[in-house]
Amino acid sequence: MNRILVAYATMAGSTAEVAQAVGEEIARCGLLVDVLPLAGIQELEGYDGVIVGGPMIMGWHRAALHFLKKHKKAFQRVPLAVFVTAMSLTQTGEMTLDGVKVSVDENLPKPPEKQGRLTFKERYARLSNYLRPLLRATHPVAPASIGIFGGRLEYGRLKWWAVLFAMLIIQAPAGERRNWPAIRAWAAGLPAAFQL
Ligand SMILES: Cc1cc2nc3c(=O)[nH]c(=O)nc-3n(C[C@H](O)[C@H](O)[C@H](O)COP(=O)(O)O)c2cc1C
Repeated sequence: MNRILVAYATMAGSTAEVAQAVGEEIARCGLLVDVLPLAGIQELEGYDGVIVGGPMIMGWHRAALHFLKKHKKAFQRVPLAVFVTAMSLTQTGEMTLDGVKVSVDENLPKPPEKQGRLTFKERYARLSNYLRPLLRATHPVAPASIGIFGGRLEYGRLKWWAVLFAMLIIQAPAGERRNWPAIRAWAAGLPAAFQL
């Protein structure tokens, strides 16, 4: 039976729950699934597909990006999908990046304040700005699928510097923005995206 790994990074725990939901959907399709924090994973031997998830934390979570780079060679053999959680995304209409289709949670993107001229924050929160480092990390292999979903931000769970960054740069109000139907629908399509 095919075995899938869902490996995640998290700062405050909410992406771990997203990874769990992704794993549940894949298991529902009849595949074996391991959902694990990526910190303890040494190799990808024995897996027929790998999903790597992480939150935007001043760029995609550093450990998730490092994981992609570290296992870049393995992704020539094992299909890869990636998901990102975030609180802020500028609506630019981008749905593909370098030919890879991106599933964007429809509740997440916000239109720019002024058409035609993006503010610093709006430019920063463009899909291409968020995802380009991640595509570079796996190049020349591209993920079979990318999903970007709303996350959860709770200032009480964070260190002071993280609160400061989230308030000043992303200016996202705290709250729960995880869209479970969108997350689960994306996950249910992964076995097909992996051609399993
Ligand atoms: C320090 C910090 C930086 C963040 N940077 C971004 C960001 O650049 N863009 C964004 O959309 N969300 C950003 N967020 C929001 C997180 O991506 C979001 O809250 C995510 O769901 C957190 O996942 P976790 O609970 O697994 O850590 C940031 C949050 C923190 C605390």
